[in-house]
Amino acid sequence: MNDLLSVQCVTKSYPMGASRLEVLRGISLDIAVGEAVCIVGSSGAGKSTLLHILGTLDKPTLGKVIFKGKDLTRESDESLAEFRNRSMGFVFQFHHLMSEFNALENVMMPCRISGMSIRESKIESEKLLELLGLGSRLKHFPSELSGGEQQRVAIARALVRRPEVLFADEPTGNLDTANAGRIQDLFFELKTRMNLTLVVVTHDAAFAQKFPRILRMRDGLWDQA
Ligand SMILES: Nc1ncnc2c1ncn2[C@@H]1O[C@H](COP(=O)(O)OP(=O)(O)O)[C@@H](O)[C@H]1O
Ligand SMILES: [Mg+2]
Repeated sequence: MNDLLSVQCVTKSYPMGASRLEVLRGISLDIAVGEAVCIVGSSGAGKSTLLHILGTLDKPTLGKVIFKGKDLTRESDESLAEFRNRSMGFVFQFHHLMSEFNALENVMMPCRISGMSIRESKIESEKLLELLGLGSRLKHFPSELSGGEQQRVAIARALVRRPEVLFADEPTGNLDTANAGRIQDLFFELKTRMNLTLVVVTHDAAFAQKFPRILRMRDGLWDQA
C-alpha cells in the first residue's frame, strides 16, 4: 500500500493530580494516498486528539507519526509549521475566520504566511473562492456571510495552498441539515478535483456513510465490536 500518513502505537496522556488521564492508548492507523477516511465514536473517545496528532497540531506522548516515510515527531516546531502550511489543510466545527478581514483576505492568509506575493496570493485565493461558489462574496466580512458560506471560506483557506491532505473535525456540526448536506458533497467533489486525501471526524451518520472507510473509536482505541 502506498501510505501517505501513519500513526504507530500512539499514546496521549495528561497528568491529572497523582494519576494520568489516558486519552489515546497505543493506537495505529495507516492512510493511503487518495483515501477518504472517516473517524466516528462517542464524545470523549479521543477523535479530535488523534486528528490533531495526525495533523501535527499536537504531539503524542509516545509513538510515531510518519508522513511519506518521515517521522514527524522528530521535527522542530518551526519546520512542522512550514510543513503544515504546504501539505495539510484543516477545517473545524467553527470557521475560525478572522472577523476583521474579508473573505478574500482570510483565504490569502496562508499564502502570505508562506511568502507568496500579494498578487499571486490574490490570484490563488480568488480561484479557490470561485471554485467554491463564492466569487460574488470576495469582499464580504465573516459577519456578512451565512453559516454555510463562512464554512466554505474556511474550506477555501484550508485548500488554497493545494495541500495533499485535508483534515476536518465535525465540519458540518454547526450547520443546518441542508447546508450540512451541501458541504458534505463539496468535500467529495474537492477530493476528486484536487487529488486530496481526506480524514474527517463526524457525528453525522449520513455523512459517515458516504466514506469508503469508516473507523470507530472508543476510549482511545479502535472499537473492534
Ligand atoms: N488538554 C487536555 N488536558 C486534559 N484532558 C484533555 C485535554 N484534551 C482533551 N482531553 C480529554 O481527552 C478526552 C478525549 O478528548 P477528544 O479527543 O476531544 O475527544 P472527542 O473528539 O472524541 O470527543 C476527553 O475526555 C477530554 O476531556
Ligand atoms: Mg472532538
